[in-house]
Amino acid sequence: MTQRKILVTSALPYANGSIHLGHMVEHIQTDIWVRFQKLRGHQCHYCCADDTHGTPIMLAAEKQNLTPEALIEKVHAEHLADFTGFYIGYDNYYSTHSPENKQLSEQIYLALKANGKIESRTIEQLFDPEKQMFLPDRFVKGECPKCHAKDQYGDNCEVCGTTYSPTELINPYSAVSGAAPVLKESEHFFFKLGECADYLKEWTSGSTTLIDGRIQQHLQPEALNKMKEWLHPDENGEGGLSDWDISRDAPYFGFEIPGAPGKYFYVWLDAPVGYMASFKNLCSRIGLDYDEYFKAGSQTEMYHFIGKDILYFHALFWPAMLEFSGHRAPTGVFAHGFLTVDGQKMSKSRGTFITARSYLDGSLNPEWMRYYIAAKLNSRIEDIDLNLNDFIARVNSDLVGKYVNIAARAAGFIAKRFEGRLKNVAGSELLAKLAAQSETIAADYETREYAKALREIMALADIVNEYVDANKPWELAKQEGQSERLHQVCSELINAFAMLTAYLAPVLPQTAQNAAKFLNLDNLTWANTRETLSENHTINPYQHLMQRVEQKQVDDLIEANKQSIQTASAEAAPAAESSQYTPVAEQASFDDFMKIDMRVAKVLNCQAVEGSTKLLKFDLDFGFEQRVIFSGIAASYPNPAELNGRMVIAVANFAPRKMAKFGVSEGMILSAAAADGKLKLLDVDAGAQPGDKVG
Ligand code: MSP
Ligand code: ZN
Repeated sequence: MTQRKILVTSALPYANGSIHLGHMVEHIQTDIWVRFQKLRGHQCHYCCADDTHGTPIMLAAEKQNLTPEALIEKVHAEHLADFTGFYIGYDNYYSTHSPENKQLSEQIYLALKANGKIESRTIEQLFDPEKQMFLPDRFVKGECPKCHAKDQYGDNCEVCGTTYSPTELINPYSAVSGAAPVLKESEHFFFKLGECADYLKEWTSGSTTLIDGRIQQHLQPEALNKMKEWLHPDENGEGGLSDWDISRDAPYFGFEIPGAPGKYFYVWLDAPVGYMASFKNLCSRIGLDYDEYFKAGSQTEMYHFIGKDILYFHALFWPAMLEFSGHRAPTGVFAHGFLTVDGQKMSKSRGTFITARSYLDGSLNPEWMRYYIAAKLNSRIEDIDLNLNDFIARVNSDLVGKYVNIAARAAGFIAKRFEGRLKNVAGSELLAKLAAQSETIAADYETREYAKALREIMALADIVNEYVDANKPWELAKQEGQSERLHQVCSELINAFAMLTAYLAPVLPQTAQNAAKFLNLDNLTWANTRETLSENHTINPYQHLMQRVEQKQVDDLIEANKQSIQTASAEAAPAAESSQYTPVAEQASFDDFMKIDMRVAKVLNCQAVEGSTKLLKFDLDFGFEQRVIFSGIAASYPNPAELNGRMVIAVANFAPRKMAKFGVSEGMILSAAAADGKLKLLDVDAGAQPGDKVG
């Protein structure tokens, strides 16, 4: 195998906000890819950093009575702890406020300048006379020129959606001081992007042939289409590339431009250079050849994982900056869509703006989220939805039910009956089936088709579980003369578990590590997806590898994020979110409502369900018949017998539903969810009889 040399990055998060699950989508996607490459034996380095410069960060620091340096240092520690909590395995998590970045930004700027690609022009911009600073569009507010909504930002109206320039606002004011801004002239530096159009047309639609012979397209097809819109003016001459303003006036937190006192690099100039700087810092720490990676014509690979909102910067500005300063361009820019929660944009008031910290502090297992996100990701730029019910169901069924269970079902017999030793299983048909998928699934990871990879891995887990059910080790264990067979079956299962672990290792690094200890393997590589363990290999005692997700943990998570906005003084929720009533379902008609047949029922007997901490079993009298209904309210009613004899309201026309191993549930009992998460059964006034209709 030819060993590839690969540099991978995720977009650099701004240093003035917390890491949330949207960021996590990107870093999980990147981390899985990097871990996969490392498992395959390639030299792969994963670099990231905080993006620390710009007006918002300068002002945020001021508000908190901190220097910008102190703010970004504090945030850096928080960001790194959040990402590490989700097992994101950077080789370097650095900062754009670093000596390497200053030096490289200056070097690139000077090279562009020497190449005739920098031009200075005088422009007019809104200026805050009180604060004595030029105002970025977002810091000018006023009345929308179109719909006259008040307090709109300087770039677009959140009410009617019109985009405009800040000078068009009616009665504009500075969001910093409240003063009325004035127009003021200033000299700015521009990167002449228009002159790079031919190069960019070629690069955006181009590809690179890798050392393994594969062809890597620089952009995804959807990204390329977007770029075409931007690169080619339409028949009215609209669109096309405009030159890019790369300077800002003091006061600004950033790097001063060489030879231009009081002028600073715009944050988006030094931010992508931060990828190089983070890597350069890594190189000097571990003794890598930085130039080999960044010189023009480099044979190494470089990939940027980013969100769709920052494509313009990565697919146009960045390759042009690199090319015209004498460096290599990226091998690929991989954009992903945005995370929605339960089908909607993440929202602070609904508690779905979920911070990484709240998730970790709520003791939810980060690998649950890694798995769920991975199961939704593909190579396209599509938004991905975190459906919280589906999250619980998916993780519990796939990871706990299908994967971890295999080890749990075989390990005990190997330990008790065979001193932990495995049999030679080289000829196993079952294992041959698992090994056969090794290259297919590798290709899925390689092309970022994680959803497909996980579907295929779970299909293999299904085959293994069918094998368990067909061979019933627990029965073999009881039968005379079946010891050999039991040993064979359980050894195959442990090997199957080892293969599945290797397949899942990019997604579940911590579980893979724990499983490797149990399997008594030093380290897993991709070869473990197709190789069996040797005869007499001994394994260690099994310890449970993963818990199920409980509904309550997810409920608490949402609650914690709702509360954090009530305590946060920083920012008020936007107007659209402040309404008191938040619908929990789409609008329903009277006819929809009439489809639900609700009845009064009398509790004949209520009892706890063995093996479930959530369910209570109700024997109910509906008047016309008796039924059994399971209800997930055990946590709210610790003493079930208390409920005997009372009335409840229940849905009578749901299809009967099988409740795992506990039995069939013939309806649903209604209860209200209190703010503290406790459930309260609905009641009915005296005189109502079992079977009475509710509506
Ligand atoms: N600082 C810039 C990036 C500079 S890269 C040289 C930035 N920072 S950010 O914090 O706003 O976003 C960082 C990354 O997170 C971006 O790729 C962005 O697309 C991604 N996401 C932010 N919110 C997201 C979702 N809700 N869903 C998925 N990704 C999201 O942009
Ligand atoms: Zn408007």
